[in-house]
Amino acid sequence: MKTNPLVPAKAKIVSIREETSDIKTFEVEPPPEFPKHIPGQCAMVSVFGVGEALFSITSPPEEDNLEFSIKKTGKVTDELHSMEAGTEIGLRGPYGNGFPVEEVKGKNLLFIGGGIGLAPLRSLIKYALNNKEDYGSLQLIYGARTPDDLAFKKDIYENWPNNSDISVNLSVDVESPGWDGYVGFVPQYLEELSPSPEDTITFTCGPPIMIKFVVQGLEKLGFTPSQVISTLEYKMKCGVGKCGRCNIGEQYVCKDGPVFTLEELKELNYF
Ligand SMILES: Cc1cc2nc3c(=O)[nH]c(=O)nc-3n(C[C@H](O)[C@H](O)[C@H](O)COP(=O)(O)OP(=O)(O)OC[C@H]3O[C@@H](n4cnc5c(N)ncnc54)[C@H](O)[C@@H]3O)c2cc1C
Ligand code: FES
Repeated sequence: MKTNPLVPAKAKIVSIREETSDIKTFEVEPPPEFPKHIPGQCAMVSVFGVGEALFSITSPPEEDNLEFSIKKTGKVTDELHSMEAGTEIGLRGPYGNGFPVEEVKGKNLLFIGGGIGLAPLRSLIKYALNNKEDYGSLQLIYGARTPDDLAFKKDIYENWPNNSDISVNLSVDVESPGWDGYVGFVPQYLEELSPSPEDTITFTCGPPIMIKFVVQGLEKLGFTPSQVISTLEYKMKCGVGKCGRCNIGEQYVCKDGPVFTLEELKELNYF
C-alpha cells in the first residue's frame, strides 16, 4: 500500500539546547523511512493536536539524527519550546530542492546569514567542512541584533574559528556591553569586508530586508545573479506543491525552492 505523503511519521526528541532567549535546537531521531536530506532542505514538524510548521534541517546529512533550530513565534513553536527530551513529535519530509552542493564543487563559498537565517546555512557549512576537498575557501558573515541573539554560539565562537578551513566574521546591530566585534548591519559589514566575486558562490538567508540589501551589496561588489543563492521563507501549508499557498508566479517555494538563484528570483519578479 502506498503511504500518504501528508501523514507524518513519529519521531523522538533526543535532546534540546537553548541557543538564545527565543531559539532552541531540537535533536530528533528520525523515523527509519526518513530519506537522507540535502543541506537547505526542510521538514514539516508536527505537534500532535496542535498543528505543524516547516523548519530547515540545520544538521548536515552525515549525522544520523536531525537538528532543527526553532524560534518561538506562535502556536506550534510555543508548544515545541515547552517540550522536553523524550517527547514524540511528527515528521514528514525532507522537502524542497536544497542547496546545489554538487554544482558548486571547486568554488569558494561565502555564507551570509542573519538571526535564525543561519539555520539552513549551518547544514551547508558543516557539509562543506566535512567535504572540504571539494570546495575552495569558506567564509561566513553572520549577524544578529545583539550578541545574545547570535545563534549556534558553540559553532560561531569555538568550532568554526578554531578551524582554519573557514573564516568567521560576526556582527551585531547595536553597541552591546562586552562586544568588541563589528557593530552595524550585515550588508554594511559585507561592504566593509568586500569579498572578491572571483570563483565564489554566495549563499544568503535571513530577514527579507537583510536579503534585499545583501543582494544590492553583492551586485555592487561584482557578483552576478547566478553567483547569488538565497533561501526564502514563505508561508506554507502542505509542503508538497498541492495547496498553492506558497507560489511566486508559477513556482511553488515548497517544491521548486526554497533555494533560488538571484537570476531565478529576478525572472520571477521577486526583486
Ligand atoms: C522554507 C522555510 C524554512 C523555515 N525554517 C525555519 C527554521 O529553521 N527555524 C524557524 O524557527 N522557523 C523557520 N521557518 C518559519 C516557520 O515555519 C514559522 O515561523 C512557523 O510556521 C511558525 O509556526 P507557529 O505555528 O509557531 O506560528 P503561527 O502561530 O503560525 O504564527 C506566528 C506569527 O508568524 C507569522 N508567520 C508564520 N509563518 C510565517 C512564515 N513562514 N513567514 C512569515 N511569517 C510567518 C504569523 O503570521 C504570525 O504572525 C521556516 C519557514 C519556511 C517557509
Ligand atoms: S505549501 Fe502547499 S503548495 Fe507549497
